[in-house]
Amino acid sequence: MSHTTPSHADYNYTVVRQFAIATVILGIVGMAVGVFIAAQLYWPSLNFDTPWLTFSRLRPLHTNAVIFGFGTSALFATSYYVVQRTCQVRLFSDKIASFTFYGWMAIIASAVITLPLGYTSSKEYAELEWPIDIAIAVVWVAYAVNFFGTLMKRKTSHIYVANWFYGGFILVVAVLHIINSAAIPVSWLKSYSAYGGATDAMVQWWYGHNAVGFLLTAGFLGMMYYFVPKQAERPVYSYRLSIVHFWALVALYIWAGSHHLHYTALPDWSQTVGMVMSVILFAPSWGGMINGIMTLSGAWHKLRTDPILRFLIVSLSFYGMSTFEGPMMAIKTVNALSHYTDWTVGHVHSGALGWVAMVSVGALYHMIPRLYGNTRMYSKSLINTHFWLATIGTVLYIVAMWISGVMQGLMWSAVNSDGTLTYSFVESVEASMPFYLMRAIGGAFFLTGMLIMLYNVIKTVTAPKGSLIEEEA
Ligand code: HEM
Ligand code: HEM
Repeated sequence: MSHTTPSHADYNYTVVRQFAIATVILGIVGMAVGVFIAAQLYWPSLNFDTPWLTFSRLRPLHTNAVIFGFGTSALFATSYYVVQRTCQVRLFSDKIASFTFYGWMAIIASAVITLPLGYTSSKEYAELEWPIDIAIAVVWVAYAVNFFGTLMKRKTSHIYVANWFYGGFILVVAVLHIINSAAIPVSWLKSYSAYGGATDAMVQWWYGHNAVGFLLTAGFLGMMYYFVPKQAERPVYSYRLSIVHFWALVALYIWAGSHHLHYTALPDWSQTVGMVMSVILFAPSWGGMINGIMTLSGAWHKLRTDPILRFLIVSLSFYGMSTFEGPMMAIKTVNALSHYTDWTVGHVHSGALGWVAMVSVGALYHMIPRLYGNTRMYSKSLINTHFWLATIGTVLYIVAMWISGVMQGLMWSAVNSDGTLTYSFVESVEASMPFYLMRAIGGAFFLTGMLIMLYNVIKTVTAPKGSLIEEEA
């Protein structure tokens, strides 16, 4: 039986557009809060003695807005786009698609309200209280039904590798969220974890690390596997490598969470398991990076003229860098220095800004004009400006945190010959100040890039269909 390729009209682009625009807006909101809390660490009076403006309440607002608002919307948008185009069918259900969009936005709105008011389960990246957790589970299961339902009615014989990564991300996030959020409610906005003591810590960091592994990594690798080949106009470098590193990645990540709990009450053997699995994880992580970068074989010259491709390739370099740094920090002796310091925060943002945000921005610049009947963004030079602001901003951020992090670790562990501590804690805080300013400036660079993107996106989506068409090289 032969099939004709469906035209754009046969795909559900409405939900993709909604999530794509939400990504840009929530990115700006989340990063603006990031810049604000970065500034608070330098100028503490910026909390204006107002409880809901304090660092402690705005920090989880930042992490929730960037991970679940910005990052997850980017994953919703691109997964719905990629699954339709690679399976050559419309989404399984338009109604479910619409439900996931409005449902997810309602969840983000409730986070924006409850976190500054101080309602929190106190579990990192899982702070939202139990009624919101239930809503997340419902929306997520609906998303899974729609994604896998679309895969099942596909017109192509095989399942393109991007969908393997998206599928893995959707399934594992459902399992992680439901298990880690198990809690006993005591009122509408207060609950206690169903687990106690060290078990609670273990379940929490099994969740926390796999949120990194499946949401911030596998999902974005799915994005990479579609948008890098598309933008480079080259096939994926090695299909075999993509399958091997997919299975290795999912098999290893699930064991690595205990590297967040070195030198704690967790049994020593389980800390060692986390360390060993993390070190091995380096291999499949670099498998993905190499596969992405090598896709450019024979098309390197395009990097000179195509800022979208530059976003995508530089994001892979940051991915490679943070997945070299992570396994190293998981080694107990290294972690003895890095843990509790700004080094961790620097590692997080080399992944978050350099990898997650840059690959999303590249994918959006490729996808947005195509969602609105065009093939290119309104302004290429503004994409280029954005690229440099994002790259310089990320480098300023992570270099500042490396220096302050290593310095803090060394200052805290320095002892005098009589065994007393050489430095008081406040001395280490004082010494970190210049680097907090540098980080805030880096963040402001990154945010400015996002505002330029917003302007470029508005100009693109309001341009008449067919007016922004890429000229042939
Ligand atoms: C303009 C960009 C950004 C700025 C200025 C910024 C700033 C900050 C600051 C000041 C903190 C608190 C650090 C501390 O407690 O000492 C933080 C934490 C965090 N941010 Fe960002 N951020 C930005 C973008 C992002 C993005 C895009 C993501 C994710 C996709 C992200 C994820 C996180 C995470 C996961 C943490 C918690 C880190 C930890 O617990 O170690 N940030 N950010
Ligand atoms: C092979 C890959 C990776 C390994 C083995 C790894 C390992 C680690 C280690 C050892 C820590 C410090 C734990 C501590 O001392 O508390 C850490 C923290 C973190 N990493 Fe990674 N990392 C990897 C990749 C990534 C990537 C790609 C991202 C982001 C996109 C990321 C996001 C984070 C976050 C958010 C934290 C902070 C958690 C917290 O304390 O709140 N990691 N990672």
